[in-house]
Amino acid sequence: MRLSPIYLDNHATTRVDPRVVAAMLPYFDVCYGNAGSITHAWGNEARNAVEVARTSIAADIGAEDRDIIFTSGATESNNLAILGTVDNPRARGKHVISVTTEHRAVLDPLQKLARAGVEVTRLTVAPHSATNPGCLDLQELEQALRPDTALVTVMLANNEIGNLQPLALIGSLCRDRQIPLHTDATQAVGKIPVDVRTLKVDLMSFSAHKLHGPKGVGGLYIRRQNRSLRLTPMLVGGGQEWGLRSGTLNVPGIVGLAEALRLCMNELPSEMPRLAELRARLFQGLEAAIPDVRLNGPDWRVGHSRLPGNLNVAFGGLDGETLMLHTPELALASGSACSAAHPEPSHVLRALGSDDDRIRSSLRFGLGRFNTADEIDRAVQLLGDAAARLREGL
Ligand SMILES: Cc1ncc(COP(=O)(O)O)c(C=O)c1O
Repeated sequence: MRLSPIYLDNHATTRVDPRVVAAMLPYFDVCYGNAGSITHAWGNEARNAVEVARTSIAADIGAEDRDIIFTSGATESNNLAILGTVDNPRARGKHVISVTTEHRAVLDPLQKLARAGVEVTRLTVAPHSATNPGCLDLQELEQALRPDTALVTVMLANNEIGNLQPLALIGSLCRDRQIPLHTDATQAVGKIPVDVRTLKVDLMSFSAHKLHGPKGVGGLYIRRQNRSLRLTPMLVGGGQEWGLRSGTLNVPGIVGLAEALRLCMNELPSEMPRLAELRARLFQGLEAAIPDVRLNGPDWRVGHSRLPGNLNVAFGGLDGETLMLHTPELALASGSACSAAHPEPSHVLRALGSDDDRIRSSLRFGLGRFNTADEIDRAVQLLGDAAARLREGL
């Protein structure tokens, strides 16, 4: 009997919730107007659906409707936020601050700016041995802030080790100096409570396929109240989204993003503890079944904040890729899917001071809405058996 695969890679992408698919379907073949067509009912219907979605998303993250623009995903949102702010003639200067453990969709635009002569400060993070591994040092950030700092960009939750950066404190430091703050919140939105007012951010990226919504659609929060904040659009043309992101709006995708986020926020109070329990069950099971399992990233058991569905562990003396090959029923990752094009050792684990052996022996688990306790127990059994076989050289 073919065992159904156990999908434990929800940081890479998530299954679209059937309720989200149902909400999107009419916008493919019934309400199929172009939201930019203002001369007929089809267009009005589509535009109305987009504005209802915009209002719903804004409410879910504590923003105003006009603060939300739609994009093709977090990669585009990060590029627009970072390049759009720094390349703008109204930018404060040619200096940007970020962190070594950001996602490539932030690190690569920064690299592009650096090649164009912008000075990029990449802050380090606390190592494995520290109390809160992966966290940046607020004092180091404060000392790095300058009058010509055009932007600070710090992710809210890390896609590999799930640690949360102290965004609200970073927000205060930046707001006091009127330095725009962007956060890549792709892994946080829909997983934990996120309120742009509490975080004091000016720009925030998010993506539907991380929260049981469709691929290819995302958004960028832009705090319009910040009158000095100006973005240079990357995509020009039809002038959609207040000219900040031209192109026909992906109406079914946008409806899907809003519905996915609405469901996440409704179910957060029960889903966060459920996922945290499954994660604890998984880690306890692995520790019991396999010798020399070590946690990568912050330890939630001693109160350090970590995404509830995230686990990243090193299997001492084993090779993560080989372990995955020996457990084909499991969908896991050895690092960020988005770096599949660049299969380098994890820059995040590297930044925590991991040596090559530890990086090679590490696997990332991303638990999601459709995972069950039975699946977790099965995964522990499969990994335990595979680890034993590999240790026996079988
Ligand atoms: C933290 C983070 N930022 C950005 C992205 C890119 O998102 P998208 O696939 O929507 O472009 C990802 C996706 O893997 C991510 O995990």
